[in-house]
Amino acid sequence: MVVQQRRVVVVGAGSGIGAATAAYFHGRGDFVAAVDLRAGDTPAGRHERCDLRDPAAIAGLLRDLGPDWDLLAYVAGVPGTAPAGDVLTVNYLGLRLMAEGMLPSMRRGGAIVGVASVAALGWQQRVGELAGLLEATDRAAVLDWQAGQDPAYPVYSTSKQAVIVYAKRLAPTAWREFGVRVNTVSPGPTETPILPDFEESMGKDTLEVVKAAVGRHATVHDIVPVIAFLGSADAGWINGQDIHVDGGFVAPLSVGAPIEL
Ligand SMILES: NC(=O)c1ccc[n+]([C@@H]2O[C@H](COP(=O)([O-])OP(=O)(O)OC[C@H]3O[C@@H](n4cnc5c(N)ncnc54)[C@H](O)[C@@H]3O)[C@@H](O)[C@H]2O)c1
Repeated sequence: MVVQQRRVVVVGAGSGIGAATAAYFHGRGDFVAAVDLRAGDTPAGRHERCDLRDPAAIAGLLRDLGPDWDLLAYVAGVPGTAPAGDVLTVNYLGLRLMAEGMLPSMRRGGAIVGVASVAALGWQQRVGELAGLLEATDRAAVLDWQAGQDPAYPVYSTSKQAVIVYAKRLAPTAWREFGVRVNTVSPGPTETPILPDFEESMGKDTLEVVKAAVGRHATVHDIVPVIAFLGSADAGWINGQDIHVDGGFVAPLSVGAPIEL
């Protein structure tokens, strides 16, 4: 069977889930542009350096990438131990600028997959508050919005809630105007270099509770196939969805205790 080569941009391809995503598509025979802050040896057809905290750098990247991409996998992220402005700009605004920059020249039938997190839990209750963040389309406005927020509320959760809400609001328009679907994947705790930072910002005990509930943390091999599926034609009628990939930890939380057998 001949597998059609696709053109895939993986943002955050230097490490962890992003590196495994780039390696997956490259191994499949797709042409991959691997984007990261750091120089990396991730298998890819092309490597681009970009600091996603800097919208001017993203504009330059978009010019360099050019048109005719099939898939944008936006995987880059920083944990809540980073400065709040970096968390919001890398995790949320960068996705937005990349999506809106690429959409008009992506191939029809393409897809955007963003990586959110189970830490976005409760986003449904914050839609009103997040509407202000979604009106902010540049770094200064995002930082202004955050300055008015309760500093005790974890900004990492806010950034991932914004990713989910943004993707859901963008999805129907992106499909109608450009024939591109937009979905998000929300991993539970996953064994990558970022995990110790999550233990610091969320508490090791919290992550141990999650691990005990489902038996282990995820590996990148649990997450990448879901990104690949949402990016594929097989998911051609799935749009605007957030898929938890967490072994089932979150599922019962809003409906009652897990049924014990
Ligand atoms: N590992 C987990 O437990 C977990 C759980 C839920 C969600 N996530 C999310 O999954 C995604 C991937 O995380 P990971 O676990 O692979 O972590 P990771 O630290 O291994 O990879 C993150 C990548 O993002 C890149 N990046 C960070 N800041 C950047 C910047 N300013 N410009 C360009 N690139 C930048 C890093 O260089 C790195 O290559 C993130 O969005 C993270 O929030 C991870």
